[in-house]
Amino acid sequence: MTSMTKKPRSTEQTDGATWVAVGQSNDLVPDGGVGARLGDQHVAIFWLPSEQDALYALSNFCPFSNAHILARGIVGDLGGEPVVASPLYKQHFSLRTGQCMEDESVRVTVWPVRLNEGVIEVFNQPVAAQNLNATNEEAAA
Ligand code: FES
Repeated sequence: MTSMTKKPRSTEQTDGATWVAVGQSNDLVPDGGVGARLGDQHVAIFWLPSEQDALYALSNFCPFSNAHILARGIVGDLGGEPVVASPLYKQHFSLRTGQCMEDESVRVTVWPVRLNEGVIEVFNQPVAAQNLNATNEEAAA
């Protein structure tokens, strides 16, 4: 598992943004997802051992089925983009950006994630969620 370890960055920031431990490396499923909690958020952590950037953290909430199920989706590749297919309606979401491949107005939240000495850590500030056309909550409304 040492190949998955990413170099820890500085942990605490003045605005409360910080890395949060959500699980252990042995919780990870190769080429699959596991559910985790980040405060009141449901996060799906995906591990692609064959990729260099092997860990991804997406919202576990599928905006099409309104259920926390993305961690149970099938992981694959769509035109070179690592994706997860939503278990119910099969839309694909980029593991890198959370973008829905079939509907450009839909994107699920993505968080930075890393392994720090065997502990899965998620940064508690999402990646660029503010500038989206539709958040997962809006898409679900
Ligand atoms: S953490 Fe598994 S469903 Fe929310």
